[in-house]
Amino acid sequence: MSNQAKGMHGIWTSRWTFIMAATGSAVGLGNMWKFPYVAGSYGGGAFVLVYLVCILLIGVPVMMAEVLLGRQGRQSPINSMREAVAASDSPSGWRYIGWLGITAGLFILSFYAVIAGWALDYIVQMARGDLRGADGEMAAALFSNLTENPLRLILWQTIFLGLCVGVVAGGVKKGLGSAVEVLMPLLFVMLLGMLLYAILNGNFSAAWDFLFAVDFSSLTWRAVLEAMGLAFFTLSLGMGSIMAYGAYMPADASIGKTVLIVALFDSLVAIIAGLVIFSIVFSTTGIEPSAGPGLMFISLPVAFGNMPGGLLIGVVFFILVAIAAWSSAISLLEPAVAWLMEAKHIGRITANVVLASLAWALGLGTVFSFNIAADMTVAGFTFFDALDFLTANIMLPLGGLGIALFVGFVMKRELVSGQMSEMNGTAMGMWRLALCYLAPVAIASIFVMGIYDKFFL
Ligand code: TRP
Repeated sequence: MSNQAKGMHGIWTSRWTFIMAATGSAVGLGNMWKFPYVAGSYGGGAFVLVYLVCILLIGVPVMMAEVLLGRQGRQSPINSMREAVAASDSPSGWRYIGWLGITAGLFILSFYAVIAGWALDYIVQMARGDLRGADGEMAAALFSNLTENPLRLILWQTIFLGLCVGVVAGGVKKGLGSAVEVLMPLLFVMLLGMLLYAILNGNFSAAWDFLFAVDFSSLTWRAVLEAMGLAFFTLSLGMGSIMAYGAYMPADASIGKTVLIVALFDSLVAIIAGLVIFSIVFSTTGIEPSAGPGLMFISLPVAFGNMPGGLLIGVVFFILVAIAAWSSAISLLEPAVAWLMEAKHIGRITANVVLASLAWALGLGTVFSFNIAADMTVAGFTFFDALDFLTANIMLPLGGLGIALFVGFVMKRELVSGQMSEMNGTAMGMWRLALCYLAPVAIASIFVMGIYDKFFL
């Protein structure tokens, strides 16, 4: 790579902007939609504890490695990896980590935009009052009206991707940086407002007990694996989002401390979202916490439709979800955009539109898997299930494992310590232990068990 290509995309204005951007990437549908229903279906407390332990012991060390690789290379994940591999005189196969990541990112973005589109649709449904006084059956019918209508799904998917293109087109400072500096504080304020509403009007103590009363008897090995997978997804690890953002991180910022802050924010948002959603859901009788993916789009809207001021709060809630998804989706797009700009010497806008169109076209598969192609399954998977499974259970763990092993064992020590100069000996020792042994073993078991679980149990 020429020197000119180094840092050609720019640098965040400050460490704070990096924190907002990485938190924006991490906080998304994983926290607001997936965490509450998965925690719900595994019985709450003990699952939440394991999830938090995984974030700290596996997520944080791997995230540090990703940021380090990005800042060392100052390019797209593919070229940063390529350079780190060359500089470490290691076998060139390691650079496929970058390719795996860019591909996974586009796959995830393709279905992420469709689900985020549901949240956009629900902003309108809430504002129109469609769910006023709704019961479970009516809410379920409204939800299937949406998912069974391909054109309505495509409309929202297109709008959502358009919003992402709009931000990424502005570049690192003016686009991504300015967006997250506005969106993330807004998200926190809205979330705290929701928390206040939930404490005043919901069944907060039941939600608290559900999430924090630890009962290990309900904890299965499979739940532990789910918790690890979710920790990965929620921190945006294993595909290059964090590597790309690390490439724009100021050289003097401490990677360890910064990553700890991001992980703390991400966990806080998941917990607060869980408290809000369960307080509200528990305030209406007859709704199970284990409702599955419909928790946010069926159970929660029923509660909103029957609570004081619920419809307005519902509008705010789905705007919040859309913002969280938006600030994550831009991090799924940026690594590929950066790479296409470097590889083909084309402008940011062209690269952006080409890649978003690709994600859009692939997303049609997800759109149709809820309606006209719902019966087209291979091994029980619809197109959407297959993509979700392939990315979360195969590509991300492989990417994360590769990153941990590469930085832990293969990358030249000087390159690693050069990025970690601010870290003291004890912290460095703990990080290496987690990165070289703890994380690879844990990730390898998610990988193996995830596949075993799906096909053999
Ligand atoms: N972390 C985001 C969420 O919780 C999703 C996401 C963004 C992601 N970038 C990623 C997941 C990279 C895996 C890999 O919704």
